[in-house]
Amino acid sequence: MKFHVLTLFPEMIENGLRTSITGRALERGILSLDAVNIRDFADNKHSKVDDYPYGGGAGMVMQAEPVYAAYRSVAEQAGRPLRTVYLTPQGRTFCQQMAREFAQEEELVLLCGHYEGIDERVLEEIVTDFVSIGDYVLTGGELPAMVMIDAISRLVDGVLNNETSAESESFQDSLLEYPQYSRPEVWRGRAVPSVLLSGHHANVEKWRREQSVLRTAKWRPDLLAKADLTEKEKELWKGEVQDGN
Ligand code: ADE
Repeated sequence: MKFHVLTLFPEMIENGLRTSITGRALERGILSLDAVNIRDFADNKHSKVDDYPYGGGAGMVMQAEPVYAAYRSVAEQAGRPLRTVYLTPQGRTFCQQMAREFAQEEELVLLCGHYEGIDERVLEEIVTDFVSIGDYVLTGGELPAMVMIDAISRLVDGVLNNETSAESESFQDSLLEYPQYSRPEVWRGRAVPSVLLSGHHANVEKWRREQSVLRTAKWRPDLLAKADLTEKEKELWKGEVQDGN
């Protein structure tokens, strides 16, 4: 999958993503990253890409033309219009289901704003999706773009070593992941739950599923409405909620 990031800080994107798991996938050619500097498309010798807002007010607005020219350079390379995400607190809140949906694209453009935003007219012209990563305001769209790229990338075939690990975890079936343990068997007086040492695969699976339900009831009860639970599991989480644990 190919990501094009339109940004004023391409080095931030490169530094963030050319490490760890995404870094390895980029080296192996499973992913490709094209961090495009919007400033390279400024039409003045000072490489200025922002100006005062019409109507007044604080801050500067990123101008339409350099953003448009940066987008066009990418779309022309691709030979077609590309799905283009603008990262903004005003967008739809990013979630695992959206990550799954974006992972189906072969190429994706992510547009990062700065200052007080981007001239609305270029957004109308090129943006297909407005996405927020949560109800808080960041200084720019770069971290949100990296968050999206990370979450999408790990769903792309071959990015994770372990084929099963992308799907058997939090938010699958609207449940949180069960707790994990590794050696030693006892750490500072805390023992690993004995069922995990039993070697009884079916019991381990049953315990993990219960833990997922209990954990979701306790920490994210809002998710349970969407989860597909058996009658017995519903009893389990009602007990959890009533206990007030
Ligand atoms: N830009 C600034 N804050 C943001 C947020 N919460 N999500 C996406 N883009 C942003």
